[in-house]
Amino acid sequence: MENQTSQQNTEKRKRVFSAIKPTGNPTLGNYLGAMKYWGKMHEEFDCLFAVADLHAITVAIEPKELRENSKRLFALLVAVGIDPADNVLFLQSHVPAHAELSWLLNNYTMFGEASRMTQFKDKSKKAPENINVGLFDYPVLMAADILLYQADIVPVGDDQMQHVELCRTIANRFNNKFSPTFTVPEGRVPKFGARIYSLSDPTAKMGKSDGANDGSVFILDKPDDIMRKFKRAVTDSGREIKAADDKPGITNLLTIYAAASGATLEQAQNEFASSDYATFKQRVGEAAVETLRPVREKYEALRRDDGELLRLMQAGAEKAARLAYRTLEKVYKKIGFVRL
Ligand code: TYM
Repeated sequence: MENQTSQQNTEKRKRVFSAIKPTGNPTLGNYLGAMKYWGKMHEEFDCLFAVADLHAITVAIEPKELRENSKRLFALLVAVGIDPADNVLFLQSHVPAHAELSWLLNNYTMFGEASRMTQFKDKSKKAPENINVGLFDYPVLMAADILLYQADIVPVGDDQMQHVELCRTIANRFNNKFSPTFTVPEGRVPKFGARIYSLSDPTAKMGKSDGANDGSVFILDKPDDIMRKFKRAVTDSGREIKAADDKPGITNLLTIYAAASGATLEQAQNEFASSDYATFKQRVGEAAVETLRPVREKYEALRRDDGELLRLMQAGAEKAARLAYRTLEKVYKKIGFVRL
C-alpha cells in the first residue's frame, strides 16, 4: 500500500529538463541564471540535467578542449548541488536518442522558423567563416533534448526562451499531425539573475568566453581574481546606487548582489543607499566570492578521481536512455517506420 502511494506521488510530480553547453568556462551568469536553482529543484520535481556536448561543436572547438570542458562541467553540476542520486545527470552524446530525434524533428520544423532565431543570427555575425548547418539546426536538437523526456518545465535564462518557444511549436505541430505524443513544455526564467551582464560592458551578456577583458567572472575563479574583476567593474555616471535603465552597470551589480545573497533588488538597493561606488563594488565582489566558494571546493574534490566521474556519467546515461527510448520508439511508430 505504501509502495502504491509513493508510486502515485512520483507519477504526479512534474518533470524538469535543462542543459548547458560545455563551451568556454562557466560563468557567474550561468550560475546565478541557471545552475544555482537546478540543485534544489529535485525537492519538488523529477529532474534531468544534461551537459549539451553535441551543441558545443556548432562553434569551433578543439578535441582536447571539448573533452576537458565536458568533464569539468559535469563535475561542476554535481558541485552546485545536482546529486546524481536524486537527479538524472548525463552527457547528451552518451544517449544517441538525442541525435536521432533531432533528425526526425527536422522534418517538422520550418526553415523560416529556424531562420528567425536571434541566437543563430548573432552567432552567424560573430563567426561568418563558420555558419554551418549545425548552428542553424541547434534549436531543433534542443527541442529533441526536451521532448525526449516529456519535460513539463524547462528552467533557462531569458536568452534561451525563444528556443523553448520553438520547441513548443514543434511539439504542437507533431501532436496535431499524428496524435498527442509530446508534453508541450513551459520555459521558466528565474525571477532574479535571469540575465547577468558583462562587468566591462553591462549592455552585453556575461559570456563564457569573455575572459580576456575581465568582463566575465568564472565559477572556478580564485577569490582574488573575482575581487579584482568587481573592483574594475564599469559603473555609470552619477553617484546613486539605484536600478534604472540609464544605469546598466549599477543595475547589473545590484542584480548580482541580489541573486547571490537571496535579497530582492529593492532590499539590495536599500542596503547600499548611503554607500559610495567603491564600497558597493567591494561588497558585491565579496557576495560573489562567498556564493562561489563552496562550489569551487566541492568541484576540486570531485576532480581528484576521474574513474569515479566516468562511473557517474555512465550511470546517468543509462537512466536517461531508458526514458528517452520510450519516447523515441513511439515517435518512430507514429511516423510510420517499420520497427523490428
Ligand atoms: P548555455 O550553455 O549558453 O547556458 C546555460 C544556461 O545558462 C543561462 N545563461 C545565463 N543566465 C543569466 N545570465 C547570463 N549571462 C547567462 N548566460 C547563460 C542560459 O540561459 C541557460 O539556461 N542551448 C542551451 C543549452 C541547451 C538546453 C537544452 C537548455 C541545450 N539543450 C534543452 C534547455 C533545454 C545553451 O546554450 O545554454
